[in-house]
Amino acid sequence: MGVAMVYQRTHLPLFLLLLSSFTCLSWGLPSEYSITGYDPRDLASEDRIAQLFQQWKQKHGKEYQHAEEAAKRLENFKNNLKYVIEKNYKRNSGHTVGLNKFADLSNEEFKEKYLSKVKKPADKNKKQWRYRLPGPVTSCDAPSSLDWRKKGVVTGVKDQGDCGSCWAFSSTGAMEGINAIVTGSLISLSEQELVDCDTTNYGCEGGYMDYAFEWVINNGGIDTEADYPYTGVDGTCNTTKEERKVVSIDGYDDVDQSDSALLCATVNQPISAGMDGSAIDFQLYTGGIYDGDCSSDPDDIDHAVLIVGYGSEDDEDYWIVKNSWGTSWGIEGYFYLRRNTDLEYGVCAINAMASYPTKTASSPSPYPSPTVPPPPPPPPPPPPPPPSTPPPPPPPSPSPSECGDYSYCPATETCCCIFEFLDYCFIYGCCEYTDAVCCTGTDYCCPSDYPICDVEDGLCLQSYGDYLGVSAKKRKWAKHKFPWNKIEEAEKTTYQPLQWKRNRLAAIL
Ligand SMILES: *[C@@H]1O[C@H](CO)[C@@H](O)[C@H](O)[C@H]1NC(C)=O
Repeated sequence: MGVAMVYQRTHLPLFLLLLSSFTCLSWGLPSEYSITGYDPRDLASEDRIAQLFQQWKQKHGKEYQHAEEAAKRLENFKNNLKYVIEKNYKRNSGHTVGLNKFADLSNEEFKEKYLSKVKKPADKNKKQWRYRLPGPVTSCDAPSSLDWRKKGVVTGVKDQGDCGSCWAFSSTGAMEGINAIVTGSLISLSEQELVDCDTTNYGCEGGYMDYAFEWVINNGGIDTEADYPYTGVDGTCNTTKEERKVVSIDGYDDVDQSDSALLCATVNQPISAGMDGSAIDFQLYTGGIYDGDCSSDPDDIDHAVLIVGYGSEDDEDYWIVKNSWGTSWGIEGYFYLRRNTDLEYGVCAINAMASYPTKTASSPSPYPSPTVPPPPPPPPPPPPPPPSTPPPPPPPSPSPSECGDYSYCPATETCCCIFEFLDYCFIYGCCEYTDAVCCTGTDYCCPSDYPICDVEDGLCLQSYGDYLGVSAKKRKWAKHKFPWNKIEEAEKTTYQPLQWKRNRLAAIL
């Protein structure tokens, strides 16, 4: 990374000045910070972008076979870069976009490759894909926030690769969840078995979660990820492994098409859901509450995901959703999706196609036939990702805190990055805590003695599972360091009152 950093530094001034002029224009910072005389089109300097592209390729391990392909990818990258910069600096929505693993794909290619893979049942005799009106308002006793990951029933984020098998990942996620809730053991399940063996679905060409549940019920169970691992291509069904029915389910049910019904279902277990995931903003999503730029028409559903919880931030309610595009997409593979809107089918039609497998503790033994050898023990489940990973504390900073070369924070505050790009922070913010922990993927930060970010509750905790903490702070913009600026000192933050988590009762259950 050493070489890259040297390179970045030499090119930083122009880029930074450009960015700061953007921010001034669009976010109305005091005009003294505005720098005129640069044309934003300079950003399209071919050399500059070719080099950024080089770094991005290294980071994501991309290699292209032909010069022609490389040129096309660079063109896409350029368009996406432009989009990312414009979007984030005109930011009027709850989410951010960035140069993630899909930054070399045009939106057309992305849709072609990863979406339109949720097959809606065409056969009217089968269990119906329902376009009925939202059901009556369902009500239930729901805690104000819930995160199934914290309860150890969600496996690590998986990656479907270049195979349209989102439906299989959504299905296994829901089955892993209910199985862990009922039996107490979290077992990662085989998407490849569904891709290879479930002939009611179309493997890498797409499928439907309810059919997958039905197939698992008829098969008597499903094998583990470890025994029947994912290859990402359509393969021949291994019938030996198909007989290894390690986890079974009893049935499945569809959720009524409303926010309240989906909430009540999510209180019980992680839920499979369809959505429209085709927008450029979703392709390049890097954080925040996704709140639009997608269709809320059930006919446009083209992707399947797993709802693993919900929360609220500043009166904005959201779902916590697990995707199957690896951890270098979104927030470590997850995204937040706005909920409780007046959209009939929810944002991106998330309410329209939700369902879940059922299982009771008295399910029959997973090994029905004594002739079947017991499967190898499942691998230890990957630990569920914490709600938001507390990053290592930032390196100690001199006084006042220097944030990169061009900005600073008062001595009692800590620099936290607001806009990071290729591991380099272009825009810094200040956190009003000394030696703070910056909560990745969010605007929050926490004091060093309460280093665990619990973003849903806006709290900082001493350790996981605590119910008492201090409030997380939002980052403010760092000050630009110009010779004519007087460096100001902020007032020292002293006493932080302890607060209860809002969902402490729910968390104990
Ligand atoms: C199917 O799985 C069994 C057991 O793991 C293995 O021995 C066999 O080679 C596999 N068959 C094929 C065709 O891959």
